[in-house]
Amino acid sequence: MSPILSSIKGRLLALFLSAFFVVLTGLGFFLYNKLEGIVIGSIDNHLHSEVQLIAGLLETEEEGFELELSEAAVGDYSVSLSGHYYQVVLPDGRIIARSPSLSIPDATLPVVKKTGFEPLYTTIKGPRGEPLRLLAQSFRLPAGGLVIVEAAESLEEAEELLRLFRNTLLVVFPAVFIISGLGVLFITVWSLKPLERFSHKIGTITERNLNERIEETPCSELRGLAKSFNTMLSRLEESFERQKRFFTDASHELRTPTAVIKSVCDVTLSRKRSAAEYEEALLKIKRATEKLSELITRVLEVSRLESKVSSLKFEDVELYSLTTDVIRLLEPSATDNGITINLDGQRVTIRADRERLSEAIKNIVDNAIKYNRTGGRVDVSVRSADGRAVITVRDTGIGIPQDKVGRIFERFYRVEESRGVSGTGLGLSIVKTIIDAHRGSIEVESELGKGTTFKVVLPLKR
Ligand SMILES: Nc1ncnc2c1ncn2[C@@H]1O[C@H](COP(=O)(O)OP(=O)(O)OP(=O)(O)O)[C@@H](O)[C@H]1O
Ligand SMILES: [Mg+2]
Repeated sequence: MSPILSSIKGRLLALFLSAFFVVLTGLGFFLYNKLEGIVIGSIDNHLHSEVQLIAGLLETEEEGFELELSEAAVGDYSVSLSGHYYQVVLPDGRIIARSPSLSIPDATLPVVKKTGFEPLYTTIKGPRGEPLRLLAQSFRLPAGGLVIVEAAESLEEAEELLRLFRNTLLVVFPAVFIISGLGVLFITVWSLKPLERFSHKIGTITERNLNERIEETPCSELRGLAKSFNTMLSRLEESFERQKRFFTDASHELRTPTAVIKSVCDVTLSRKRSAAEYEEALLKIKRATEKLSELITRVLEVSRLESKVSSLKFEDVELYSLTTDVIRLLEPSATDNGITINLDGQRVTIRADRERLSEAIKNIVDNAIKYNRTGGRVDVSVRSADGRAVITVRDTGIGIPQDKVGRIFERFYRVEESRGVSGTGLGLSIVKTIIDAHRGSIEVESELGKGTTFKVVLPLKR
């Protein structure tokens, strides 16, 4: 594509100029033809009345015809080669009368041999070589006998008028074309200025100044675009901030077990130790390493989920059997802690990413086991209600203080009271991301010391 046509300005200008060129040329031809028709039409009308007049002045004499020249020979007809002529011809071609303007020797109008009485208009060359409009019409005289009356008028004036008009068009139309083209170019450049400013501003935004916004332009088309772009920037900024915070929090969390390992090593190596002391130190290091490994696994899980959340594989999933599988997986750890898990409900089919949804339910049931008391219960139910699938996980555990319930979905957040139980504080943030990606919602109700209920609501398969 040519460089001019690759820009909006160039395209608009090319489109306008070609359309305008077609319109102007068409208009020029139309006006010229119209004027030509009017001029020739008025000459033809004049010739018609002249022919009628001359025919009316014809008299039949004994030896032929006579024209009362005195009346027909006045005005332009009397001036030699004036461009206004008439002549009367017999059907055999004999000229019986002609205007004084044809009075120089041999000057005649071409003899039109015609039959029928309808008028015949033609354009011919006159005695001076000038273009002439000629009308020939046959008449039957009252006294009998047939004559052809011819009248002609020079087209020089008409042609001069048409030439003048054509020349005017040839000057005016290109001027209009150029002025309009420049006008359109100016308007296009002026209209696209905000877009250029807009694109320049977008070009200056990087990850370092994501907090900047595009100013809302007065141009209504761009206002919507600026708004959408600003919304996108806000989302990007938020996600960028979240990533940064996660990175900082993760590093912070990883530092604690690492510091423990280092200090245990330093203290232990500071002098000779007994075998029991070395064993104790190694056990401490083992626990810290387990914590580290748990954290790293969770952090990797979160970052994997972040990259996959936009490409979940949705399929028909039967929730009751999916929950059964999850519970079967967690049953051993529940049994170890003397906790019973009960499942009831009905078969409910939804559209979901099987693997991710299992992960979410697993995290909730895992918490219900982890933060329970010995001999406690976990009641899980799967139902459909109000056109939605509802999974409830109720435990008889330690519960969450009311003022902390709102924070448990935050990354790395752990309630003080549950610090004795191993965990990273990432499980529920993973659950929330997965449920949000399924257009669902999650609610928590908890009573300290009595238990907690998580309720997940998901849209049913349509
Ligand atoms: N059923 C529950 N009963 C009581 N407290 C809970 C329950 N579920 C979650 N919590 C509280 O919410 C916090 C956050 O839970 P989350 O699952 O995100 O992290 P975690 O269980 O500590 O760690 P992880 O899930 O990574 O092993 C927990 O530390 C705990 O304090
Ligand atoms: Mg958890």
